[in-house]
Amino acid sequence: MPGAAGPGTLSRTAGSRGALDGMRRLTMSSIEPRSPVTAPAVRGRKVAAGAEPLVMVTAYDAPSARIADDAGVDLILVGDSVAMVVLGYEDTLSVTVADMAHHVAAVARAKPAPLIVGDMPWMSYHRSPDEAVTNAATLVRAGASAVKLEGGRKRLRVVEAIVDAEIPVMGHLGLTPQSVHAMGGFKVQARTSEAAMALVTEAKALAHSGCFAIVLEGVPDEVARLVTSAVDVPTIGIGAGPHCDGQVLVLHDVLGLEDRVAPKFVRRYADLKADAVDAVARFADDVRRRRFPAEGESYHLAAGVAETLGLYGGR
Ligand code: KIV
Repeated sequence: MPGAAGPGTLSRTAGSRGALDGMRRLTMSSIEPRSPVTAPAVRGRKVAAGAEPLVMVTAYDAPSARIADDAGVDLILVGDSVAMVVLGYEDTLSVTVADMAHHVAAVARAKPAPLIVGDMPWMSYHRSPDEAVTNAATLVRAGASAVKLEGGRKRLRVVEAIVDAEIPVMGHLGLTPQSVHAMGGFKVQARTSEAAMALVTEAKALAHSGCFAIVLEGVPDEVARLVTSAVDVPTIGIGAGPHCDGQVLVLHDVLGLEDRVAPKFVRRYADLKADAVDAVARFADDVRRRRFPAEGESYHLAAGVAETLGLYGGR
């Protein structure tokens, strides 16, 4: 997520347009509808045990959920990144449970096959396990099949309480954007051997408490590899190198709809912002030159009605 420049900062200004060569242009639209992906199925997807890496993207509304579904991803994260990507905030701290439920419901109405994971926003699980369960239930009632929350050791009671309520929980360690002020910015985490070992311990504790998968964000790839081999649940990386059991990116970054800044770990697979600006500019030009709408893009009265209204000869 965006941050000020500095050592280890995940700046979105680096701009990377990844190699598209050899990319599989595979979509699922022409394929049989898939059965819904479940949390237990995700839980079993360790690459070391021979599984294919998991693919997760964010989606915040029905059209983007349909894109993710047609592309055949495994999980859709209705991330609190909606705050920055769609709602124009500087960080993720402003979104509420009601905001998240609104976006989860929009995604769920598309009835996508990927597992819908609803992100628990800041302060929705920090005060008490009871409150956390109530808020997780709100996201499930909105259409999520699992929730995600940030943090390790401090969150174990909350994870256990939500899992006890039969709601699958995804953990999130490393660069946890809800801790932006505590971290002093959006900075790569676990760069020392002590911090790396602490991260391994936190990940083991989360897995032991019942998390079915763990997002690893903004950590060196060697550390992500250590964590991934230490836990028996899948790790899903973002800015965490290639050794995780899966990868997640923000859909708007993948599509190039977000073109302002790009952290080093983003690979853009399309340039939809430029395409969109071009399309709207051509529409504006057509309107101004009276080339839109054309005859075939207009409705017409039946001849008799036009005659009654004295409209012959008019437009
Ligand atoms: O909110 C989000 O999009 C996330 C991902 C970056 C993992 O938490």
